Amino acid sequence: MNQAKTSGEPLLSVRKLQVDIAGKRVLRSVDFDVDAGELVVLMGANGSGKSTLALALAGHPRYEVSGTAHLGGQDLLELPVEARARAGLFLSFQAPPDIPGVKNNLFIRTALNAQRASRGEPEIDAYDFLGQAKAGAKRLGLPDAMLARPVNEGFSGGERKRNELLQLALFKPRVALLDEIDSGLDVDGVRALVDLITEMRAQGTAFVVVSHYLHMIEMLEPDRVLRLQDGCISESGDLELARSITAQGFAAAPARQAAPVGA
Ligand SMILES: Nc1ncnc2c1ncn2[C@@H]1O[C@H](COP(=O)(O)OP(=O)(O)OP(=O)(O)O)[C@@H](O)[C@H]1O
Ligand SMILES: [Mg+2]
Repeated sequence: MNQAKTSGEPLLSVRKLQVDIAGKRVLRSVDFDVDAGELVVLMGANGSGKSTLALALAGHPRYEVSGTAHLGGQDLLELPVEARARAGLFLSFQAPPDIPGVKNNLFIRTALNAQRASRGEPEIDAYDFLGQAKAGAKRLGLPDAMLARPVNEGFSGGERKRNELLQLALFKPRVALLDEIDSGLDVDGVRALVDLITEMRAQGTAFVVVSHYLHMIEMLEPDRVLRLQDGCISESGDLELARSITAQGFAAAPARQAAPVGA
């Protein structure tokens, strides 16, 4: 369930985000906004820091982070990772990890119930959950058997991404960060992904989608396309920016000054 915005501020607002890892400054000063129901595509060369941005916002402990990131008025950077998820932030990993010994349906139900509890909603019982999970899995082309297996263990690349999408569909986050969710998905998977995102956007979920693939970016009809370069958002545009990056490559375009936020 999406919660109403708490103020006139954008749903997610990131300012002067600086991120260091292992003594290396990956992000210098990242600024962007995403409002409820908006979809922003984040492009950037390999190693430009897209995953770092997503992981730092989600609260990965390895990163040293400064600046601000507000979700619905709450300062995300002050919250531990689980409180960020409870606040409605969802991250789909570029490379979803295995969790051996933890059954997929129990993992997803436990996470869902923790989020429901934080919204004052009752727990969903195992029977009702299984009904929802099976319906979601069917929609996303994930065999039921994957629900009873350990999380991602032995899953194919595309099955991992579909399992991330199942979590997205069930958690109904306020803001979803999707890090190369399309990589590994076949054509039917990409179609299911676009349908799900389109539906959730209409219900108010905000999306930050990291992708290298113009075809899917065009299908998503983004509100904005951002380019991450030299540790900041160097360009902000519409689909034409994605088309010109795809046509010319990242190396061809010169470094620019940081783009104004929301431009
Ligand atoms: N633990 C680490 N130690 C040193 N450097 C790191 C570490 N983790 C990440 N980096 C570096 O940070 C930079 C940004 O990495 P990141 O994964 O965010 O890039 P990306 O934009 O997501 O790239 P890709 O398109 O390949 O997924 C890279 O140069 C990477 O090598
Ligand atoms: Mg990455």
